Amino acid sequence: MGDFEFSEFQSATLGHVHRNQPSQGAYAKILSKSDFDTAYHEITSWQGYQPTPLYQLDDIANAISVDKIFYKDEAPRFGLASFKALGGAYAAIRVLQKQIEKQTGQSISMADIRDGKYQTECANITLVSATDGNHGRSLSWGCQRYGAPCRIYIHAEVSEERAEIMRGFGADVIRITGDYDESVRLAKEEAEANGWHVVSDTSWPGYSEPPRDVMAGYGVMVSEINYELDDAPTHVFVQGGVGGLAAGVAAALRHYWQDASPRVVIVEPEYADCLYQSAKKGDAVTVNIETESIMAGLSCGEPSQMAWDIIVEEATDYITIPDNLVPPMMRMLACPAGTDAPIQAGESAVAGLCAAIVARHDKTLSAKLGLDASSRILIIGSEGITDQHIYNQVMRGEL
Ligand SMILES: Cc1ncc(COP(=O)(O)O)c(C=O)c1O
Repeated sequence: MGDFEFSEFQSATLGHVHRNQPSQGAYAKILSKSDFDTAYHEITSWQGYQPTPLYQLDDIANAISVDKIFYKDEAPRFGLASFKALGGAYAAIRVLQKQIEKQTGQSISMADIRDGKYQTECANITLVSATDGNHGRSLSWGCQRYGAPCRIYIHAEVSEERAEIMRGFGADVIRITGDYDESVRLAKEEAEANGWHVVSDTSWPGYSEPPRDVMAGYGVMVSEINYELDDAPTHVFVQGGVGGLAAGVAAALRHYWQDASPRVVIVEPEYADCLYQSAKKGDAVTVNIETESIMAGLSCGEPSQMAWDIIVEEATDYITIPDNLVPPMMRMLACPAGTDAPIQAGESAVAGLCAAIVARHDKTLSAKLGLDASSRILIIGSEGITDQHIYNQVMRGEL
């Protein structure tokens, strides 16, 4: 297949579940067009806003015999290096808006908060969240811009470099000994006890507004993609952590392309396959994380309930990939053999592309996914270099 050396990809075995549940329109009930429009209007007016690039990877597309591969590169997003910049910071300003409206009894605009009109009020509203890195970076960046105190809970395996970046945005970073799901629980408990406000990217029964706003924020990415494409992609390969990214992307694509919307393929690490297991079971299930994946942003054991409600109707395929595909894929993108643009992709960004390449080397899986020479694949390159040290290790071949 083409000139590329894809040895790791030829011998890899992926997990795959196909689940096609008829749509009851959950995507639009949970995330309306107006939710997406409000987020788009707000985020595109932030200082420093610029659409991120949508690359066409023609050499890889030729090598694996598909028509097109589009790679949405979220590395430059607001200087925060991931798509998460669109979610946490937006949900933060929405929480502040609602809280200040409650306090003042007046309707206020997000622009007023951004412009510092409610500095005193913002300084008294503490926002908290758990994170494995990127969501917390977005939230702490937003809080710094709006002048609100921020507390971020991280688990034992989150790198110190990621923690330091959040401290740099003024957040108090609390490191716990447990895993990501425990950090979510602790953030919630301490917020309840202290009158702080949780701005989480994952939802649970009774907690949905901030995670809905987070997903609405991710829609900006899809609006930018749609603007550049004349025809709908046939497939989107999108990474799954708690499912917010996949749900936000799937819902925004469906609003725009309707019946022509691409087939949604969710890709997770083997070590953290909560959406894959949920698809098998037909209900959101929690898995134990025994080994932390190199794809830190995807190392989540518990799906976001609201995201799952969208995903179960909008996604048809769930794939798991082994960690060993990630470093060679990152190196291949950084130093392309042909004329494709070089891309600095982080560990969690490449899972979708890994899955697409392996699937094209496997005739049976290609057939199951409906992939062929006419496929136009959209990849969400969800992060750039979010940890320089890890990235350097990967580039030197040490990981
Ligand atoms: C870079 C990156 N990609 C993908 C994801 C997955 O997003 P979600 O947890 O919303 O499924 C994350 C989550 O942190 C991430 O940081």
